[in-house]
Amino acid sequence: MLSIPRLEIQDFPVAQTYRQDVVTGLSSIPKFLQPKYFYDETGSRLFEAICELPEYYPTRTEALILQTAAVPIFQTTGPCELVELGSGSATKTTYLLDALVQLQYPLVYVPVDVSPTILQSSAERLLADYPQLIVRGVVADYEGVWARLPRFESRRLLVFLGSTLGNFSQAECETFLAKIADSLQPQDYFLLGVDLRKAVPLLEAAYNDSQGVTAAFNLNLLARLNRDFDGNFDLTQFEHWAFYNKQLHQIEMHLRSLCPQSVYLSKLDLTVEFAAGETIHTESSRKFDLTELGGLLTELGLPTVKVWQDPQGWFGLLLCRRT
Ligand code: SAH
Ligand code: AVI
Repeated sequence: MLSIPRLEIQDFPVAQTYRQDVVTGLSSIPKFLQPKYFYDETGSRLFEAICELPEYYPTRTEALILQTAAVPIFQTTGPCELVELGSGSATKTTYLLDALVQLQYPLVYVPVDVSPTILQSSAERLLADYPQLIVRGVVADYEGVWARLPRFESRRLLVFLGSTLGNFSQAECETFLAKIADSLQPQDYFLLGVDLRKAVPLLEAAYNDSQGVTAAFNLNLLARLNRDFDGNFDLTQFEHWAFYNKQLHQIEMHLRSLCPQSVYLSKLDLTVEFAAGETIHTESSRKFDLTELGGLLTELGLPTVKVWQDPQGWFGLLLCRRT
């Protein structure tokens, strides 16, 4: 009898876009870089450390919700394959896998992440912990290929946790959700975790932690550019800056230049001039209103069938069904 390998990882290189995105972002006014570039090996490790911080409530709050919601989710969906976008360490995914085990459903997991190191290590850990699990990982930008992946089960549950949706602007978010609706088949499900609007001091503390881990995560982007493009960013001459933009309901993270300076990225043959105080916008983290988001999802053909929240109403988990 032929046995199916339990782990396969497909790789869709993103190198060409990376070069162009960096040139475009650093040549724009104001300057920006896309948050997906945070996640090299160090960036992925620093994000895991952020998730453990006392100030960074989203991870533990969503984990608490998933503990209660996981079994009811699969009682609603029935057996299905799990496709997770931006799966990262997949720590919270274990609540979903535990529920599949409890309900004696098949365990097929398709993590999609731009970071090869975190994808490999999380897949190996899960395979060791769940003997019946099959993993078909995809290293890719989740705006691309995942929608065309072959199915293993007739029904799919697409999972997008951690409020990573918040890293898109309003317009990008609408386009992305429309693409998701388009890629799913009727009776498929979409599980979405989102951070909700709340008191500004709580939000700002979560992105300005006292141990400086978020600052290190933000600054690591410059270290990554130095390494990948033979650059000379002096990390001591930039500072982490994060604040809540009330009009756009989003935390914004920037890297602020502490002095007038010129940086050269030799592999891009790119010189970047900074005035003192000038910033690179590295991430927006939008905070959602459940009614607004539910309305948008319904319009797109993904009506919410169930919503869970923590007792403080800080975080929301929405189970939507493709009509
Ligand atoms: N889902 C996890 C991790 C969130 S961190 C959690 O809830 O804790 C965001 C994850 O998405 C990281 O692992 C990062 O590598 C990945 N990521 C960010 N932008 C991406 C993109 N455009 N395509 C694929 N993966 C992306
Ligand atoms: C992955 N993403 C949803 C996190 C967020 O909260 O926007 C990344 C992060 N940035 C700083 N802290 C955490």
